[in-house]
Amino acid sequence: MTVRAPAKVNLHLGVGPLRPDGYHDVITVLQAVSLFDDLTATTLDPTTADPTAADPTAADPTAADPTTIDGVPSGDQDGVVVTVEVSGEGADPTARGPATTTPDVSIVPTGRDNIAVRAAHLVAEAAGITSERVHLTLTKGIPVAAGMAGGSADAAAALVAFDALWQAGLDRVALAGLAARLGSDVPFPLTGGTALGTGRGEQLTDVLATGEYHWVFALADGGLSTPAVYAEFDKLSEGRLRTGPTPADDVLAALRTGDPAQLGAALVNDLQPAALRLRPALRRVLETGRELGAVGAIVSGSGPTCAFLAAGATESVELAASLAGMGVARAVRRASGPAAGARVLEGPDGA
Ligand code: C5P
Repeated sequence: MTVRAPAKVNLHLGVGPLRPDGYHDVITVLQAVSLFDDLTATTLDPTTADPTAADPTAADPTAADPTTIDGVPSGDQDGVVVTVEVSGEGADPTARGPATTTPDVSIVPTGRDNIAVRAAHLVAEAAGITSERVHLTLTKGIPVAAGMAGGSADAAAALVAFDALWQAGLDRVALAGLAARLGSDVPFPLTGGTALGTGRGEQLTDVLATGEYHWVFALADGGLSTPAVYAEFDKLSEGRLRTGPTPADDVLAALRTGDPAQLGAALVNDLQPAALRLRPALRRVLETGRELGAVGAIVSGSGPTCAFLAAGATESVELAASLAGMGVARAVRRASGPAAGARVLEGPDGA
C-alpha cells in the first residue's frame, strides 16, 4: 500500500497574538504543490522479533507517561508495532546544516515520535486494532523542517494508508479530526488543492481558485523549528498591538482571477520577518529570485525554504536554472499547484 501526499506553500499567512494554549490564531491560504512524499506500508509477520527494541531514536520508555506523546497514543498500550525507514530528502546527512540546532530538526525521526507512526497508532485506536506489525518506507521529496509541511504530509499519508489497510472506514470528517490531533498542518494535505485555513490553521474551507501556478523553491541548508519561528514572531511583536491575523482578501481575489502576477503581488507571510531574523541569509535569496524575474517571492510558512512564483511554466524553468546557477540555495525545485491531496497509488494487492 503506497500513499502519496503533497507539500504546501502558504499564499497568505496572517498570524494573530499568542493564545493562552500556546498557539496563534491564523488566517492562511494554503496551496498544495507537486512535491510529494510517498509512504509505503507493508504488513509484517507478527512473530518476527521487534526491530524497535534496539532503536536508539525511539521515544524514551522511561518518560513520565510512555503511553502518549502529545496526547496521541504512543503504541505502548497495544500490540501495534510500526517501524520506519526514510529515504530521499532528510535521509542524506550532507543535506543537513551546521549542527546549530539541538536536536537537529532536519533529521526525520524513525522512532515512535515519527508523526506517521503516531498517525498509525491513532488509526489503530479508532479501528480497534490491537496487534499488528507494519513497516513504513518514507520516500521523501518534500524537504524536512523547511516550511512545506513535509511531516504533516507523512502523517496525512499514514492516516489514509492505515485507514485502508485496516479497513477502519474513517470518512473525510473523521480523518480530518485525527489529522488535527496530530498537528495544525495535517488536515490540509488530506484534501490538497487550495484552501483557507483558520483557527490554528486546521479548520479548512475550499476557496475558488482558477489557473495553474508555477513555483520555484529554493531549499536551504538545515531546517527551522516551527515553534522557534513562532517564538521569534512573539519577540518581534512585543509592545505592538496585534488584534488578530491579517485577512486574506487580496490573495483570495487574485486566486479568482488566475493571474500569477496579481497573486505574486498579494503574497503575505507574517512569519517572514521572524524567519529572516533567524536566517538573515534568506533576504539575499528572496532578492535574487525577484531580480531573476519572479512575480512573487516569499518565505514558505515558517521557512527556511523560499518560494518564488513564476509568470508561467517557461519562466519557471528559466528561473530555476538561473537560481541554481547563482548558488544561493542548497537545491532548487520546480513544482506546480494546486496539487491533489493524499491518495493511494498502489493497493495491498499491488493494484
Ligand atoms: O500544531 P503543530 O504541532 O504543528 O504546531 C507546532 C508548534 O507551532 C506549536 O506548538 C506552536 O508553538 C506553533 N504554532 C502556533 N500557532 C499555530 C500553529 C503552530 O504557535 N497556529
